[in-house]
Amino acid sequence: MRKPFVAGNWKMNMNSQTGVALAQGVAEGAADLAGGSVTVAVIPPFVYLPPVGQAVGSSGVAVGAQDVYFEEKGAFTGEISPAMLKDVGCTYVLCGHSERRHVLGESDELVNKKLLAALGGGLLPILCVGELLEERDASQTEQVVERQIRAGLAGVDAEKMATVTIAYEPVWAIGTGRTATREQAQEVHAFIRKLLAEMYSETLAAEIRIQYGGSVKPGNAKELMSEPDVDGCLVGGASLKVDDFVQIIKAAV
Ligand code: 13P
Repeated sequence: MRKPFVAGNWKMNMNSQTGVALAQGVAEGAADLAGGSVTVAVIPPFVYLPPVGQAVGSSGVAVGAQDVYFEEKGAFTGEISPAMLKDVGCTYVLCGHSERRHVLGESDELVNKKLLAALGGGLLPILCVGELLEERDASQTEQVVERQIRAGLAGVDAEKMATVTIAYEPVWAIGTGRTATREQAQEVHAFIRKLLAEMYSETLAAEIRIQYGGSVKPGNAKELMSEPDVDGCLVGGASLKVDDFVQIIKAAV
């Protein structure tokens, strides 16, 4: 049985005060669920990781980072290593978020290097995949998602794979208010699980959590997560408001 996983990707939002207040609010609001029946994570900008980690304390709410670099240390100005993220209490890290792919130009190969480095450093990666609108319109959704998953997971053995989460985030649904329908989400999630079964095994594929992301709100979270292969959500905008995010967490059970 897969435990639902709801994560809030704050993107480039909040400051030290509002971020701490948000984290505290989530920790309080999700107190009965976080770390118990739902895995909950907040994913602030790098600079707020330490105060946010302190704010969530031992509440069961985990902390994740939005990105990581693949080298251990050295002359890589501006980059952050897996060990640095561990050092400030990170558990999770996003790899290949669509904004990193499409705004910052990250390739499948770079995403794979980052994911392998994250695993090597003891972090739990959330591999984000999803098609552009023109790719969906050209019926290329499965092709794109398959390429991103096969490339992103290259070199990941079954033991490590058991610690990876996949997030399906159709790019056309991110920040647009246009959510995938529950049927559209389920269709792609089922495809991803079938692909993982082919790449690893049925047993392992049945254990991997696949989150949906893209305009998840309190009003649509429940129906999306009631689909059999939708194991939680990766939430952007609605994770910046305590009440909305807590409602989404509650919708997971
Ligand atoms: P929105 O929920 O704002 O659409 O963002 C989704 C997302 O990209 C989460 O990583």
